[in-house]
Parts: sequence; structure tokens; C-alpha cells
Amino acid sequence: MRFGFVGTGSITEAMVTGIVGSGLEVAEIVVSPRNPEIAARLASRFPAVQIAMDNQEVVDAADILFLAVRPQIAEEVIRSLAFRKSQKIVSVIAATDRSKLLTWIGEDVQLTQAIPLPFVADRQGVTAIFPPNAEIAAIFFALGSAVECETKDEYDLLAVASALMGTYFGLLDRATGWLAEKGMAKAKARAYLAPLFASLAQRAAKADQTTLDALRREFSTPGGLNEQVFDDFDRGGSRALTDALERVLARVKE
Ligand SMILES: NC(=O)c1ccc[n+]([C@@H]2O[C@H](COP(=O)([O-])OP(=O)(O)OC[C@H]3O[C@@H](n4cnc5c(N)ncnc54)[C@H](OP(=O)(O)O)[C@@H]3O)[C@@H](O)[C@H]2O)c1
Repeated sequence: MRFGFVGTGSITEAMVTGIVGSGLEVAEIVVSPRNPEIAARLASRFPAVQIAMDNQEVVDAADILFLAVRPQIAEEVIRSLAFRKSQKIVSVIAATDRSKLLTWIGEDVQLTQAIPLPFVADRQGVTAIFPPNAEIAAIFFALGSAVECETKDEYDLLAVASALMGTYFGLLDRATGWLAEKGMAKAKARAYLAPLFASLAQRAAKADQTTLDALRREFSTPGGLNEQVFDDFDRGGSRALTDALERVLARVKE
């Protein structure tokens, strides 16, 4: 099996790093020569990585081809390439509709869209894919886990959900900032809060039958401090959160 990557940037580096040592049977990973520093770094770290002369060489070599260029240049790059009938292609290009991609590809290929996150480098990511495809899902399960979307609407909703990453760090930043204002060293505040949040995330990700609302109550003594904070948050914060998600959804659907 040979994987190819057109666009050797941050997310390709993360995926290739995760793939090597993942247990996936990949004999060769062919990357495009841009970006030269990242391509050279991958080739020097991993013997399976080969740098192609150009994008077409990547397409020709790949059993499974990943398209990972920025949306702004996607049309120009994709239209200039010749694909094989039934070729397996995974586009990770953000905010670029499936029908557009297929028009630019101009061949009857097996196209899957995916939203990998940088955590795939450590094989801890969760990747949304659309439409469902067992072979492509297996690749992303080897890089953490995968969620297969049945419809474009579902896929768009997970794209919206992935826009919460900045807010997660923003919440940590605001809380550590407040602790610092009260006189605690920021590093100490972070050393407490970041592992606390990590433990909470692990609890939420556990595949059990406890609903998230039940977890919230489990972690909030009636009349206690956790309940008080959530009640305060719920007054304006929940509204701000859902309004923000609605606005992102409108952008994703544009
Ligand atoms: N980063 C993420 O977490 C993430 C997650 C999911 C999806 N994505 C999507 O993945 C795509 C790539 O994102 P990224 O963060 O990896 O961006 P990036 O770091 O800018 O990588 C894109 C790469 O494409 C290269 N490139 C430019 N022109 C090219 C051409 N004509 N042919 C081949 N390669 C060319 C660039 O090389 P130069 O540096 O030489 O210009 C750059 O290294 C985007 O569509 C993004 O929306 C990213």
C-alpha cells in the first residue's frame, strides 16, 4: 500500500508522523516537494517517506491519495492534475464542498472528506469523515479514532464542533489569568488546571452510559461550588455558546 500527500504542510506532517509506527501496512509514503523543509524533515526522520518531483508523481504513485493544500489554491492545484478512475482520494481541505472537489478532479474517483486534527501525530486524534468508508475510517482509527458521517449536514455539524478548540484554550487562559490576578503564579495555576481539564475530558470520553448532564450533576454537590459556577455560567454563557455555534454553522453552510 502506498500513501501519497499533495501539500506537505502542518497537517500532512502530523498525519505522516502518526501513520509511521501506527501498525498500518504502508510500504511507502510519497509527499509533494512543497513545503521543502517539511518534506526533507519527514524524509530524514522516516525511511518510508519519499519526496516526489512534483504533484503528479504523487498522484501516480498513490494507492490512497491525500489532498492537503490550502483552500485558496485547491482549485488551481487539483485541476492541473490527472487522476485515475476509481482512485481512492481523501481531501482534508477545509470548507471546500464535495461537488466542487469532484468537478475539479474531473474523474470518477472514490472521494472521502476528512477533518484530521493535529493530535493525529500522537495517534490521539478524532477525525470526522464523510461519506462513511470502512477503509478510510480504519486509517483514522489507527491515528486515534474516527466518526463516520452519514450526511453532509452531520459532517458540517462536526466541522462546527471542531471550532471549539480555541475556546477550550481560551477558557483555560481566562481562568489561569484570574488566578494570576489573585496573586498565584500563572505557571502554578496552569499546572493545576490543565491536568484537571484533561481528567474531565477523559471521563467524558469514557464509553459508558452516563449522560453528560448526569456527569455535570455527579461533579456538582447540591448547593456546592460547582453547581454555583454552572448556574452562573448557564445564565449568559450557554446562550453565548449556542449563538456562536449557530454563527459558525451559517459560515460553514455559506
Ligand atoms: N492544520 C490543521 O490542523 C488542519 C486540520 C484539518 C484540515 N486542515 C486543512 O488541510 C489543508 C492544509 O492545511 P495546513 O495547516 O497543513 O496548511 P499549511 O501548513 O499551509 O500546508 C499547506 C502546504 O501546501 C503547500 N503548497 C503550496 N502550494 C502548493 C502546490 N502548488 N502544490 C503542493 N503543495 C503546495 C505549502 O507549501 P509552502 O509552505 O511552500 O507554501 C504548504 O506547506 C488546508 O486546507 C486546511 O484547511 C488543516
